[in-house]
Amino acid sequence: MSKNYHDFIERNVGWLGIMTVVAISFGTMVEITPLMFLNETTEPVDGLKPYSALQLEGRDVFIREGCTNCHSQMIRPFRHEVERYGHYSVAGESVWEHPFLWGSKRTGPDLARVGGRYSDDWHYAHLMDPRSVVPQSNMPGYPWLDSTVLDGQLTAKKMETFNVLTKGKMHKDDADGVMYSAEEIAAAQEAVKGKTEMQALIAYLQSLGTALK
Ligand code: HEC
Repeated sequence: MSKNYHDFIERNVGWLGIMTVVAISFGTMVEITPLMFLNETTEPVDGLKPYSALQLEGRDVFIREGCTNCHSQMIRPFRHEVERYGHYSVAGESVWEHPFLWGSKRTGPDLARVGGRYSDDWHYAHLMDPRSVVPQSNMPGYPWLDSTVLDGQLTAKKMETFNVLTKGKMHKDDADGVMYSAEEIAAAQEAVKGKTEMQALIAYLQSLGTALK
């Protein structure tokens, strides 16, 4: 029987394809499946805080402007990376990220721990005109972000969406177990309305990588 079975697979290109895929996915499954059950990779690190309404809007500006085309947000566990950027990124810092912005393209430096490294004023000058603070920079300026004003119409909806996406992934001692309370969602529009996209983006940048002490 086993001989015939082997014969059958080898003479049937469809089955051969399927069984080949099963065989080569086995290694991947063995490596990835355990990660889904390890607390270390599925639970937020202690200091992790949800983005404020303004930071959340800033994150969307970061995505829209394609900052990920030049900046990763993932410090690899190598000495030359850790010495330059700080502690390597751990999974517990990213459990609430949807979508995650790890990236891999590094025309500019990694930004995973840029929060607190520079003042808000530095970021402002840099985003308006990178060459004003880093003469040899080839990063483009984003001066229009200083005049595009947020109306906050979708902020509450975004927060509600994050509540759904992060369900069951909040800190264990978090009493209500949701990322944003009803009050925070109700106050969201007021919190961002009238702020510029520049302010939002800087607030977001200043939050990056500050959870891990
Ligand atoms: C074309 C590639 C490119 C794009 C797109 C880009 N950057 Fe940069 N960025 C760089 C380069 C190169 C540097 C290093 C020189 C400098 O500091 O200006 C840099 C530096 C930075 C720094 C300083 C990092 C540090 O540790 O010194 C920050 C913050 C930053 N970029 C934010 C952004 C943001 C936010 C966006 C999107 C709005 C963005 N960048 C888009 C190339 C880019």
